Amino acid sequence: EQINKGNYEHYMQKEIHEQPESLKTTMRGRLIRGGSCKAKTVLLGGLKDHFKTIRRSRRIVFIGCGTSYNAALAARPILEELSGVPVTMEIASDLLDRQGPIYREDTAVFVSQSGETADTLQALEYALENGALCVGITNTVGSAIARHTHCGVHINAGAEIGVASTKAYTSQIVVMAMLALAIGGDTISSQTRREAIIDGLFDLPNKVREVLNLDQEMKDLAKLLVAEQSLLVFGRGYNYATALEGALKVKEVALMHSEGILAGEMKHGPLALVDENLPIIVIATRDSCFSKQQSVIQQLHARKGRVIVMCSKGEAVSVCPGGLGRVIEVPHVEDCLQPVINVVPLQLLAYHLTVLRGYNVDQPRNLAKSVTTQ
Ligand code: G6P
Repeated sequence: EQINKGNYEHYMQKEIHEQPESLKTTMRGRLIRGGSCKAKTVLLGGLKDHFKTIRRSRRIVFIGCGTSYNAALAARPILEELSGVPVTMEIASDLLDRQGPIYREDTAVFVSQSGETADTLQALEYALENGALCVGITNTVGSAIARHTHCGVHINAGAEIGVASTKAYTSQIVVMAMLALAIGGDTISSQTRREAIIDGLFDLPNKVREVLNLDQEMKDLAKLLVAEQSLLVFGRGYNYATALEGALKVKEVALMHSEGILAGEMKHGPLALVDENLPIIVIATRDSCFSKQQSVIQQLHARKGRVIVMCSKGEAVSVCPGGLGRVIEVPHVEDCLQPVINVVPLQLLAYHLTVLRGYNVDQPRNLAKSVTTQ
């Protein structure tokens, strides 16, 4: 039944709209919010015997490909903040190309929807040889990565059929946010922060349901952009990953050139591309990077850029001085969970662009769901 399209035309569409439920399944039994005197905590059974080692490790290295890499990148800031352990990122193929350093004192976290991606699997073998503690985060029970890692967490997002990953992405971020909470343990100094995140996680499926109401608006935006050759997405901080992932979706399925750009790097190159034709989505939801993104928007307007801003609900005025440009308003959530919300309109945009451009949504040309050869 789960691999039926139901009332949807495509698996990708179904999987995008399924996210309130898939996120609930991911969190089921793992978030504990007791009575008034009981602390709020996270339970990740598959890791319970390993937290001591993880907390003592020299660094946490995330390793993955494609969307799974982007999910880890989205979770990196909260892991750095709560774990107190340095967190680095590796694209599996690049780690292998460089034979980059992996130490016995490292915790290497392998993120993979399928659990079968050849590059990630080979990086796992490499990390095992180097003696690191290897943790798997996959959506596939019994997959090679799940079997060969020392311990791990299943994301339980349900079968994902569309080649472009959508619901697995949001579930991966949520699992890694829970991982950050669990590694952070019961440190007093971050208790308020941790509890706010846990409350935010409980409410996240509702907020995702709310952001899915933008479907028609994103379809209208897709109509406007359907004939474009290129689309840039600017993000930073928690939402640098959202920019990369949004651009990857557009590239993968709509077969339109798209690039996710770290907004802090704008003046070091991308600014040269700005003119009145090239559409640029700027993610400027409310967080500690907000004022920097406001200034990016101003600089883009000053160069007559064609700007579309994603902002928190009710903040259109502060991101669109003088009503310039188009706005996508999304519900505001805890900063580290905002990437889960912000990616949804971009998934919808990629989906509608693909349908309007007449391409194959669920099986984009030249791509495979699981790349099991190198
Ligand atoms: C392929 C898929 C992508 C996916 C990537 C990593 O390229 O088309 O959607 O993100 O592999 O897959 P994994 O199963 O390891 O997450």
